Amino acid sequence: MKMDTISAIILEAAENAKTETKDATSSRKVMSSGWPIKCTIGPGLEGAIACDSKVGYVNGSKGALIYRGYDILDLCVHSNYEEVCYLLIHGELPTKSQFSEFNEKMKDFRSVNSTLRKLMGFPVEEMGAMSALRLGTNFMRHEMTQLDKRGFKPKGVATISADEDSIPMETPPTGEKSAKYEFKRQKRRKPSPDEASGVEACYHLIAGVATIAAAISRLQGGLLPIEPDPELSHAANLLYMINGERPSYDDERIMDVALILHADHGMNASTFASMVVASTLSDFYFSVGSGIAALNGPLHGGANEEVIRVLDKVLAYEGTPEQWVTEELSKKSKIPGFGHRVYKTYDPRARVLGPLAEHLVKSHPDQKPIFDAAKKVEKKVVATLGKEKKIFPNVDYYSGIIYRCLGLAPEMYTPIFAVSRVAGWTARMLEYGANNRIFRPRARYTGHFDREYAPIKKRK
Ligand code: ACO
Repeated sequence: MKMDTISAIILEAAENAKTETKDATSSRKVMSSGWPIKCTIGPGLEGAIACDSKVGYVNGSKGALIYRGYDILDLCVHSNYEEVCYLLIHGELPTKSQFSEFNEKMKDFRSVNSTLRKLMGFPVEEMGAMSALRLGTNFMRHEMTQLDKRGFKPKGVATISADEDSIPMETPPTGEKSAKYEFKRQKRRKPSPDEASGVEACYHLIAGVATIAAAISRLQGGLLPIEPDPELSHAANLLYMINGERPSYDDERIMDVALILHADHGMNASTFASMVVASTLSDFYFSVGSGIAALNGPLHGGANEEVIRVLDKVLAYEGTPEQWVTEELSKKSKIPGFGHRVYKTYDPRARVLGPLAEHLVKSHPDQKPIFDAAKKVEKKVVATLGKEKKIFPNVDYYSGIIYRCLGLAPEMYTPIFAVSRVAGWTARMLEYGANNRIFRPRARYTGHFDREYAPIKKRK
């Protein structure tokens, strides 16, 4: 790959990260496996170790993120999102033939027409984009799942086939003696090893969720979805299916880097949510649906949309961005896009996304004011809270400005996060499933015992 401006920006960010964190104590020790283990647990399971994993590692003190042993910043320079997905799922970078086979599957799985047909039967324009995305993954389940479609049904179960326009009912419609439906027995066939292991579902979800997200963006803008283009990469397809035109080299490359940076991040809330569901042996489609639901919250993936709305407010604020920060902090507000449960230094993803946003606004001068305001807010927050509370920008801080430059509506920022994170969710579900044990922590009971029931009339 030629060394382009974007790679040079990432390399510079990586160099800065190395210099600034050279004195930080780093824990790179591979932990010995074996259970049970001792750890100190805080509320929200802080500090709890829930499983072993080789998928990725977040080094909070160094501000580093590793996928399968590779530094993400290296991957951003040399790799691409498709290769990173393969790496996360299979543990190794693909050979030429493995990669071409994977890409063929991705091309195939990007077309989710039957899912989109079902989704378009709903008022997508009235729904939240994340809610529509979760619904879409449910429809993908119908399209593909081994449980519903591929002959895994227990013996004797039949499916009802009805006209597309009619709704099957148990009760005969008025005036008819009996309702007639055609019962069709599913053909049983042996699943391929990839289907049986769930790998096929992972590929399907990684490819298909992107198409659904793009379709939601179009539908919410009053436009019809666009078919994926088999000639384009995952990142380029995503932008193409949203904006209706092939992206420029820089736009595609920056979208690709954003997808790589968001692909996995340890046992974060949405990953854990999807793993909890998968651990019940529910399928990957339901599990990814739970990941999407967890990611939606403003303390997690929902923060990127919140950041851009807040920065718009900063622009409209009558004082300076610095004064805005002082005012917000005096009210004890949390500034979206800052702070992290694990990083106690700069989030490595923000280190890259900041300069990439700066690069993009050069070709989108209308976004320069918001970028400048963001820089001022960052400087003030870090000066006030950096040393004392270890509050620095996180991945969500600059991603919104980038997405806005790439033509995405704010409602789509969190869905785009999900489009990327499906790789991490599925890789970790697959890994955990190999030695599955249903998640079942306990609550510390702090309630009453032995209370006497009082009838409603006697209650005060
Ligand atoms: N702005 C100002 N102060 C903050 C911020 C912030 N964004 N984040 C944390 N603090 C302060 C808290 O007020 C608290 O101060 P205190 O000790 O005086 O009470 C201290 O730092 C510790 O904060 P906690 O909320 O306890 O930290 P926790 O690890 O539980 O939360 C979280 C991390 C949820 C990310 C938090 O920093 C936050 O709410 N940030 C804003 C939302 C956000 O950007 N979320 C995206 C996170 S990245 C992701 O999920 C992809």
